[in-house]
Amino acid sequence: MTTSTVNAVARDLFAPLGPTYDRYARLLSLGQDPRWRRFLVSRVSVAPTETVLDVATGTAAVAIELARHTGSSVVGIDQSDEMLAAGRRRVERARLAERVRLVHGSAERLPFQDGEFDALTFTYLLRYVDDPGATMRELARVTRSGGTIASLEFGVPPAPLWRTLWELYVRLALPLAGRVISAGWHDVGRFLGPSIRALPPPEQLADVWRDSGVTDVRFRRLSFGGGVVMWGRRE
Ligand SMILES: C[S@@+](CC[C@H](N)C(=O)[O-])C[C@H]1O[C@@H](n2cnc3c(N)ncnc32)[C@H](O)[C@@H]1O
Repeated sequence: MTTSTVNAVARDLFAPLGPTYDRYARLLSLGQDPRWRRFLVSRVSVAPTETVLDVATGTAAVAIELARHTGSSVVGIDQSDEMLAAGRRRVERARLAERVRLVHGSAERLPFQDGEFDALTFTYLLRYVDDPGATMRELARVTRSGGTIASLEFGVPPAPLWRTLWELYVRLALPLAGRVISAGWHDVGRFLGPSIRALPPPEQLADVWRDSGVTDVRFRRLSFGGGVVMWGRRE
């Protein structure tokens, strides 16, 4: 598979962030990020004997939360070696190395068999792929029938007041804060607003999920719509 421009953008964007990702992602989401991840994990029902695939696992925040909350085993996959390196250190620190395994790979072509996983999660992924529909079909492919698929993504608040505040934040505060932190975070600060605006709203994304073979699709906006958790069941 050839590497697309959007893949390369994501790779370049995350390469310098690994060691500082956890600290600043929390800060720049105004402390909301961990709460959103907890709600995401609460949507996933798996037994301790089962295995979850966490796609775009990054520094393994969701993978660790899943292992702790459900007692299951977790495989995390990401295309960034730098993010995975920070994730492996974090898994070791959490003493979860026996149940959380991190592997390098792309969401568009997962190195797993059909129906191999009992559930699947992904976080902040669909803005970084060329074809969200094809990626959703690939995620559904590796999830067994009846398994939960759940995601977390940034969103644009729909209410006018919160939308105005959100626009001020992503246009002014986020690039400025990024610039103060480092060149890598300055890139993130400039990239995020346009990237989040370009993603279809959750109502449309839910149709993409259904077309990919996911049923009972639901979503909840968190923090006035700044975060969106979506979940459903593999047909
Ligand atoms: C914003 S981070 C999220 C990390 C983590 N899930 C979290 O909640 O903090 C997005 C991650 O998606 C990964 N990513 C982007 N495009 C990807 C792709 N096509 N395949 C696999 N991982 C990808 C990036 O390398 C990055 O680690």
